[in-house]
Amino acid sequence: MGAFISLRGIFQLLGLPVSLLVTIIKYYTVGVRFRKFKNNLWGALKLTVYRTALSLDMLDTKVIALATNNHILKRVIGRKYNYITRNFHGYGTKYDDHSYWIVKQPNRDPSDPILYYFHGGGYFLQTAPEQLESIIGMYKLLDPEVQRKTSVLLLDYKLVSFGHTFPTQINQLHHSYQNLTVRDKNTNIAFIGDSAGGNLSIIYTQYLKSLERSKVLKNPIYPRTMVLISPWTNLKPEVKQFNPGYSYFDNDEYDMIRYRYFTTPASLPNLIGTQPLRSLLVSPNSKLPHSADDWSDIPTFANENSNIFVIAGEDEVFRDDILKFAEYALECPFYSENTYCGTSMDFNPRVHQYIRPNQPGKAGVEVYVEPWGVHDSLFFENHSLAKIMALEKKNKVADCRSWNDTEFFATKKIVKFLNRSLIQ
Ligand SMILES: *[C@@H]1O[C@H](CO)[C@@H](O)[C@H](O)[C@H]1NC(C)=O
Ligand SMILES: *[C@@H]1O[C@H](CO)[C@@H](O)[C@H](O)[C@H]1NC(C)=O
Ligand SMILES: *[C@@H]1O[C@H](CO)[C@@H](O)[C@H](O)[C@H]1NC(C)=O
Ligand SMILES: *[C@@H]1O[C@H](CO)[C@@H](O)[C@H](O)[C@H]1NC(C)=O
Ligand SMILES: *[C@@H]1O[C@H](CO)[C@@H](O)[C@H](O)[C@H]1NC(C)=O
Repeated sequence: MGAFISLRGIFQLLGLPVSLLVTIIKYYTVGVRFRKFKNNLWGALKLTVYRTALSLDMLDTKVIALATNNHILKRVIGRKYNYITRNFHGYGTKYDDHSYWIVKQPNRDPSDPILYYFHGGGYFLQTAPEQLESIIGMYKLLDPEVQRKTSVLLLDYKLVSFGHTFPTQINQLHHSYQNLTVRDKNTNIAFIGDSAGGNLSIIYTQYLKSLERSKVLKNPIYPRTMVLISPWTNLKPEVKQFNPGYSYFDNDEYDMIRYRYFTTPASLPNLIGTQPLRSLLVSPNSKLPHSADDWSDIPTFANENSNIFVIAGEDEVFRDDILKFAEYALECPFYSENTYCGTSMDFNPRVHQYIRPNQPGKAGVEVYVEPWGVHDSLFFENHSLAKIMALEKKNKVADCRSWNDTEFFATKKIVKFLNRSLIQ
């Protein structure tokens, strides 16, 4: 693996204070480029930090991925939000070698929901506190009746930055998932994943299908609910996508991800080793031709009792790929119908919201495009948990239905979705 961090990486990290200063100066003079954070300096600074982290060479990201999930759960979140987590049964305990409970309800029934969280970070970054804060916040905002039955589990997968190439992560998920469904007979699993975690959710359904087809598994239980937050669906965009009119090009200056940095051909082997790219198990959007049949025979997508939620930011580079996936897997027509150069942050259901009701042979689907949103809202709505804690300290129960629609765009939509779909 060579040196722990490259010279380029050192210079990039040293450049961060300068980038932050430039962002501050711009904020007060010409304005920042990030449209959602024109009037939100914290948001703009956060985005600057993430842009730097995500433009590091994949193997350099080790230096910012040193904490373990155990440490983050117990020492970071468990301390900062002790007021909340001390009331969670089983908080921070292991389910098995690859998963930690965030909440493990006592006396649960196997049909009670398990919200299984897969964190994003390109498979090379560790879980960030912001991500967990947002997920815990969503759990706390569920209706009390739903919340009482719901357990929350965190997948603790190994990172590419430490040499664990894909599909290590799928295999680890598979081991835990088998324990959940076969050994422990759970039937109501809800995946929630952001970015690479969304990628894992999607790919795992294909993986289950392939094992069922080859008779390795008999009648596997498929996840019944999926929440995909800015899912990563295309590992290698086509060259034409780097031209005006495509989100990779148009949003390069607006988003947290600058795609050219982490999909250089040289970095692909760090991620996928020697696997073929154009496969549904590796990069669903790279597999050609796109075909609805690839998805319509997977119960998660095809069962009337299943529900799938997808959210993309209008100003994120992955927007095209996410909407393309939503079009061929979920019948959401947004990719073909809309161009998204919105000039305001106003929510317009016609272009920002697609709802397909549950029907025989088809899962219920909700797709949202967040006006001016950037990649991965979990990073920008993490103050939900602080807000909840402050309310609880005053003996008030948090109810996000009255919260600001712009500030908590994703949180509100996801909570509403989970509130309706978690219980059978
Ligand atoms: C699943 O459970 C079995 C025992 O029931 C255990 O040996 C195995 O390690 C578990 N898998 C993981 C990933 O921990
Ligand atoms: C998901 O991530 C893995 C590991 O980086 C990669 O091999 C795969 O192509 C990705 N799939 C998609 C759909 O992006
Ligand atoms: C949200 O995340 C930021 C870092 O991105 C952190 O500084 C802040 O403390 C978190 N906010 C709250 C209210 O938890
Ligand atoms: C909601 O928050 C946005 C920015 O986050 C702010 O511009 C707007 O005024 C707020 N709306 C209300 C109704 O408070
Ligand atoms: C959750 O669902 C219940 C029943 O459908 C509804 O009354 C309640 O308003 C919902 N709560 C939230 C936070 O969406």
